[in-house]
Amino acid sequence: RERHELQIAIDGPAGAGKSTVAKLVAKQLNLFYVDTGAMYRAIAYKALTSGIPINDEEKVSQIAQTAQVVLDHSEERLVWCDGQNVTQAIRNPEISRAVATVAAYSKVRERLVELQRREAARGGVVMDGRDIGTHVLPGADLKIFLTASAEERAKRRWIELRNAGKDIPFEEVARDMQRRDRQDTEREVSPLEPAPDAKILDTTGLKVEDIVAEILRLAQEG
Ligand code: DC
Repeated sequence: RERHELQIAIDGPAGAGKSTVAKLVAKQLNLFYVDTGAMYRAIAYKALTSGIPINDEEKVSQIAQTAQVVLDHSEERLVWCDGQNVTQAIRNPEISRAVATVAAYSKVRERLVELQRREAARGGVVMDGRDIGTHVLPGADLKIFLTASAEERAKRRWIELRNAGKDIPFEEVARDMQRRDRQDTEREVSPLEPAPDAKILDTTGLKVEDIVAEILRLAQEG
């Protein structure tokens, strides 16, 4: 592939720094950035605001089939669901609590994976998620699996929420995150796991710019 058609997959648990790092790498290499977690969040949001019980697999799958989930590629990175700007709303704790349930439904995943592959067909991408290297883009040029200690990941997420004006007790953030990671790891369809050919980077104690530099180096090597 041409350099501008480069595909970089970044997977890992919550709070490992995927989106921060992926955005910067995409900017440096002039690639699209696709936040696949935002797409699962948009479906969870649509279910909750439509009054559909999150445990109703059939109904949630149904709304996923028709949902128009659009990620805009401007600096603002707005997330749209059926014409509504849901960028802020999908970060709320209620969505964070519901999303792993929605993401375990095979029909929901099929639909979103199709949209994700369509995004990748438009040109080079940095895509972050849980199953990008294993399932969505198995032929990606570079696969990164980002991790960090559970303590550090919870701390990062807590700071992120606080900066967004959401004051949630640290213990609650840590507990929700742990539960979500367990759900993501233990589900049957496309669970969170590193692809066999992924490069595993532990970011505990590392600075963002150092992680980005390492990924750019690996991209150059490939
Ligand atoms: O990255 P995030 O926290 O926004 O992800 C939200 C949820 O969606 C999380 O529970 C994992 C799930 N997810 C997934 O199953 N597959 C992806 N490719 C991306 C996210």
